[in-house]
Amino acid sequence: MPTMFQFTSRPKHLLLLSLFALSGLKNVSAAAGRERRSLNEDWRFSRFTSNPDSLSYDVLKEWMLPAANGFLSDGKKYERPSGTAPGSDVDYTQDDFDDSAWQQLDLPHDWAIAGPFDAPGVGGGPGRLPINGIGWYRHNLTIDADVVSSKKSVFLDFDGAMSYAAVWLNGELVGGWPFGYNSFRLDLTPYVKAGGNTLAVRLDNALDSSRWYPGAGIYRNLWLVTVDPVHVGQYGTFITTPEVSASEATVEIVVDVENKSNASQRVDVATEIYAVDPVSLKPAGEAVAAFSSSSVTVAGGEKQSANASATVTDPQLWGPPPTQKPNKYVAVTTLSSNGTAFDTYETVFGIRTIAYSANEGFLINGEHVRIFGTCNHHDLGAIGTAFNYRAAERQIELLQEMGNNGLRTSHNPPAPEWLELADRFGMLVLDELFDAWRNPKVDNDFSRIFDDWYEPDMRNFIRRDRNHPSIIAWSIGNEIPEQSNAQGGETGKLLQDISHEEDPSRLATTAMNSAGPNTALANEIDIIGTNYQGEGNGASFSSSWPNFHSTHPDKMIWSTESSSCVSSRGKYLFPVTPNKTAVVGNNPGQGGDGTNRHVSAYELYSPSWASSPDKVFEQHDRYPYVAGEFVWTGFDYIGEPTPYDSSRSSYFGIIDLAGFKKDRFYIYQARWRSDLPMAHLLPHWTWPGREGQTTPVHVFTSGDEAELFVNGESAGRKKRGQYEYRIRFDDVKYSPGSIRVVSYKNGAEWATAETKTVGDAVALNATADRTSIAGDGKDLSFVTVEVVDSEGSIVPEASNSITASIASGPGKIVSTDNGDPTDKTVFSEPTRKAFSGKFLAIVKTEKGASGDIVVEFQSDGLTAGSVTISAT
Ligand code: GAL
Repeated sequence: MPTMFQFTSRPKHLLLLSLFALSGLKNVSAAAGRERRSLNEDWRFSRFTSNPDSLSYDVLKEWMLPAANGFLSDGKKYERPSGTAPGSDVDYTQDDFDDSAWQQLDLPHDWAIAGPFDAPGVGGGPGRLPINGIGWYRHNLTIDADVVSSKKSVFLDFDGAMSYAAVWLNGELVGGWPFGYNSFRLDLTPYVKAGGNTLAVRLDNALDSSRWYPGAGIYRNLWLVTVDPVHVGQYGTFITTPEVSASEATVEIVVDVENKSNASQRVDVATEIYAVDPVSLKPAGEAVAAFSSSSVTVAGGEKQSANASATVTDPQLWGPPPTQKPNKYVAVTTLSSNGTAFDTYETVFGIRTIAYSANEGFLINGEHVRIFGTCNHHDLGAIGTAFNYRAAERQIELLQEMGNNGLRTSHNPPAPEWLELADRFGMLVLDELFDAWRNPKVDNDFSRIFDDWYEPDMRNFIRRDRNHPSIIAWSIGNEIPEQSNAQGGETGKLLQDISHEEDPSRLATTAMNSAGPNTALANEIDIIGTNYQGEGNGASFSSSWPNFHSTHPDKMIWSTESSSCVSSRGKYLFPVTPNKTAVVGNNPGQGGDGTNRHVSAYELYSPSWASSPDKVFEQHDRYPYVAGEFVWTGFDYIGEPTPYDSSRSSYFGIIDLAGFKKDRFYIYQARWRSDLPMAHLLPHWTWPGREGQTTPVHVFTSGDEAELFVNGESAGRKKRGQYEYRIRFDDVKYSPGSIRVVSYKNGAEWATAETKTVGDAVALNATADRTSIAGDGKDLSFVTVEVVDSEGSIVPEASNSITASIASGPGKIVSTDNGDPTDKTVFSEPTRKAFSGKFLAIVKTEKGASGDIVVEFQSDGLTAGSVTISAT
């Protein structure tokens, strides 16, 4: 295998990289000297729509900037201003403030998801939910006396807080971090006292801060880390593999040792490598290798790095399924002095090589893997942005079932656990930082603070994530307004240079929708990322790729964003365009129902800049040097409800907001899992009143030929032509009964599917994705309820009102949904209409519960449905 990629000696056409990766610490407590405990429980919260405290970012900024100190180059350092810090006179920061009237809750928390919709001042872009305002959180933090007496360091680690977080302990301003998508650490040590401490957090979300739903609140996990003053620093390990072969891998580690005490200390640094339990991420079995141990002397108040290397024989590589396995290891680093260990730090990583080829595309462990990717925002549908492991896991499971092997974290860094999931599932991740640089897209986006924060945010982002084996490239920005001018080139270089400094093992990309091959940004960037322009906008098939490819013959090209097809699950509008792709308009013949705000589910319509999946596939087949695509989007998301701005959520998803598959799921599965025998038919076949009318039937299949039968009679057997990705029977006339398809591959029968005309709705049929969940108050069961006829078949247009309730047992209905972008019933409401026959209830247990939970579903005139979920 080739050696570690060097920027100075970059081979022209093929860049081969190798890497070992870490996914950070788990909820570790047993490690020597180090305790990391969740601070999620038992908070008080209040939201204010007008400023209750006369504080603002302008007032707080000088006290926030020192948090950036660990992330600045060449000795730059912000001093904390002297004198009384702001907020010490604000009631909410005080020990004796009575917060008993405030809302009691556990983190992670998204205050906006509670609604209601149509919040004043919040447009369709951010989802019409009350994301804005000042949010105050308070918590009584207990610190053991020995932590204080033994002068331990006490850190508060936010995985993410939306946004402009400022933190007080016992009335003293500790610091803060503005950007809502980065994780950050604050040092509480100077302010803690033994016993009870009052922790207060102020968040500040302006209107017009985001083009999509950003959520609001302390929406990710919060941790308290207690360590010896001499310890492995934040994101304190970086592991790479300069050489990987089938028989052995050379592994290198850099350990950052931080000394927060006043005295210099000599530290022995030792690291061993273990196999890892894939879910708990804990070491399994005996050590498989040990790094050479080393010693460093760290002056008081300073940091030192210790470098070491190891050899792993017979390495089990990390790679994407189905052809590879996502194997991982864990490195356990121990700091000691005179034989006494005082800090242990675990680094989960994978061994793999990656390569970017201008002509072949992307390679991992020497195998070419086409990127079958999707872009996704960070909301989890009806539970909003409050991070939930199971909700994220369900999303990734559904995407992988489709054959999706790549994920772009559009347009900002995800929760740390989301990357652990990507590692576990073997997903190829494009980790993205920004949607704006210096020039705004909306008034209060990152451009507002770019100059002060781009460097700390960029270094922080890469240091946190750089050891995840799933990450294959960094994206420094999406459709940056200045992408086509000289400033775009300068800023792009600035950010990309930081990415090279922080991680020489991966390349950077940026998503360009209008910058052409001869722009400064295209000249600078390592990997050409195109949004839409590669496939050609709208009806046009004119591609920018040939020009990019000839102008930059040494650079890999990929579609950082493609398609943006729009549809409402189960809503079929007639007549259907005969074309491969069509720009959506406001009447059924143009794929849009402006009255009801639905878009046709024939999956052929898109906004003017975008394309159907079929057109994107054609263009990728015509330009095979392009490494693949990240489809906009895998899941529908809250906000950006193009083309109907007054709706609540997007139409772009392959899967709807409730997690129900649209027909589009199957055109991707047909292409991305071409070995899986499958056939899918659309539309549904219950059209009273359409008798005799043309009702096109489309087939998505991984086969290459299909015969359609309408009420038992053949309507023709057709082969899929070159650049065709669906088999269309456009002349079929509707008559009740059934449509059935038999698909073939290489002449042999491959898969079948059938859709029947259904009868009246008579009952509700409920099924849970998991009937046994942890009784921890966090784990979730997603229950799908279908409105069915007497044969148990889903009634495709049913919109009956359904009520979910807990009939017995220690359960709670968290939220409901139906995937309808126009439904503005708040998500916590247990009653809502079915949409295209389906309804979703998300169920959790009471905290610490066990036993059976019976969830019941009722609807007037229909036989009720129920499921039993056991809490374990
Ligand atoms: C892109 C943009 C995405 C989303 C998408 C909708 O241009 O990067 O964030 O807005 O359009 O089609």
